[in-house]
Amino acid sequence: MSAGTFRVDRWWLGPLLTVLGLAAFVIYATIRSFWRSAYYVTDYHYLSPFYSPCLSDSCVAGSSHFGTPFGELPMFIPLAFLSLPFLLGFRFTCYYYRKAYYRSFWFAPPACAVSEPHSRYTGENRLPLILQNVHRYFFYVALVITAINTYDAVLAFHGASGGFGFGLGNIILVGNVVMLWMYTLSCHSCRHVVGGRLKHFSRHPVRYWMWSQVSKINTQHMLWAWITLGTLVVTDLFIMLLSSGVIPAVRFVD
Ligand code: FES
Repeated sequence: MSAGTFRVDRWWLGPLLTVLGLAAFVIYATIRSFWRSAYYVTDYHYLSPFYSPCLSDSCVAGSSHFGTPFGELPMFIPLAFLSLPFLLGFRFTCYYYRKAYYRSFWFAPPACAVSEPHSRYTGENRLPLILQNVHRYFFYVALVITAINTYDAVLAFHGASGGFGFGLGNIILVGNVVMLWMYTLSCHSCRHVVGGRLKHFSRHPVRYWMWSQVSKINTQHMLWAWITLGTLVVTDLFIMLLSSGVIPAVRFVD
């Protein structure tokens, strides 16, 4: 028997893996967001999602798909300063991630039928956790940012000689945005936006259909949450290694 529970299974494995997985992503994403190099492959127009949109004069030539309305940025400001805070807020307030870090980082509680170290439970009805309610607004911004990532992936169908091109990077970039859409559209707030506050589904067949589709992918929201952490890292890592000359370009059409 472990302290605080009668469970004899390895109930601690889930919280432990969650801590390791989230910590690894946060460390990687933080380092790369401030790295400021190897985030764009000029020949093929591959842009890392950690640098999108790149809107300042500090961005490498060609990586600013929406112009450069901002001047040079000091080193302590990430080049994707406009999107990163919202993406961080979107994930931090996500219903799934809340469950994950409440359990694994705050032990509230660490697992089912395992006692928690806290003496009181105040829920999310008061400050500071009531602020988690802003999630629905982060969702709207996340829609825009995912659309921008999609635009980046479309522009990446670019050949070294100037016309259409297609390579391994395109598969990785498109795979990443497909997964990002699955994560974003499976959001619980999205489900409420498309199908909430209706008294009669029968009078709103289009919204009912949309709600049905979102509900299907919503059941796998945790899966999309983890997959997208992986695809974001793989996409950025691929672009970093390719633009640094560590790995060769794999191209099918150029
Ligand atoms: S509930 Fe996870 S992104 Fe909205």
